[in-house]
Amino acid sequence: MKRLCLLLLTVQMLALPAVAQDVFVGCLDEELTRQQETFAGFLTLDFENDRDMALANLFRLGAIYQSMALDCGYQPNHAEVKVMLEQVLDYASLDDLIAAQSVGADVDEILLELETIYGDPLTGQLLYNGLEPALGGSPLGCAGCHENEAIAPLTAGTWTRINDIRLNLRQFANYSQRQFLVESIVRPMDYITPDYAAVMPEFYGGQLTIQQLADLVAFLDSQDQLLQGE
Ligand code: HEC
Repeated sequence: MKRLCLLLLTVQMLALPAVAQDVFVGCLDEELTRQQETFAGFLTLDFENDRDMALANLFRLGAIYQSMALDCGYQPNHAEVKVMLEQVLDYASLDDLIAAQSVGADVDEILLELETIYGDPLTGQLLYNGLEPALGGSPLGCAGCHENEAIAPLTAGTWTRINDIRLNLRQFANYSQRQFLVESIVRPMDYITPDYAAVMPEFYGGQLTIQQLADLVAFLDSQDQLLQGE
């Protein structure tokens, strides 16, 4: 639980919005005071009777207060961020952190999240070509396979091919273009394109943030060239 709270907090800090969000009703002064009093009343600090529970509540109160401040636009300074990161790394491995930030492989959940995220095709292109690292610092290597037609379907024309050919297949009757793309990336073994071997790695859901996946999808959406010989 401790670990989870810290992780959530750090992830939230890493994903700080550029603009303060103090427009929410929940961020008005009276409302913040009211919330703070409610939490303090609920998570009591009775060290004499139940020390473990009191410590847990102390921890949770801290986490809640920090979330409230961050949600309402507080920008932690460098020293504060440093302390938070050190605390998290005491409790979580780098693998845990990466796992907490990655999209995973639940296509429905990902599609829902993508609705509120703008994908940048230029960043997507850098990621795709391995010029920008994915989570954990390693390049994705998509282009390594997809620039060679003997290994994988060509990058050029991906959008057209999916739209004109794949989505006409019976099993994709209810699929959107985006759904096909996301599934192809995070669950490549669910459908193997005819004439190709099942060599695409299955770990991308653990290497991409939702933003990076959105960027990749935006890049592939721009690959609307005419198809050759298909
Ligand atoms: C080791 C080689 C390899 C790598 C690396 C690879 N792919 Fe693939 N990919 C394939 C192969 C082979 C297929 C076709 C067979 C299949 O469906 O799995 C494919 C299929 C696809 C498709 C469906 C294309 C279509 O026409 O139906 C998409 C989209 C895709 N890959 C995107 C990516 C992205 C994005 C990355 C990087 C994050 C990536 N691939 C990395 C080999 C690779």
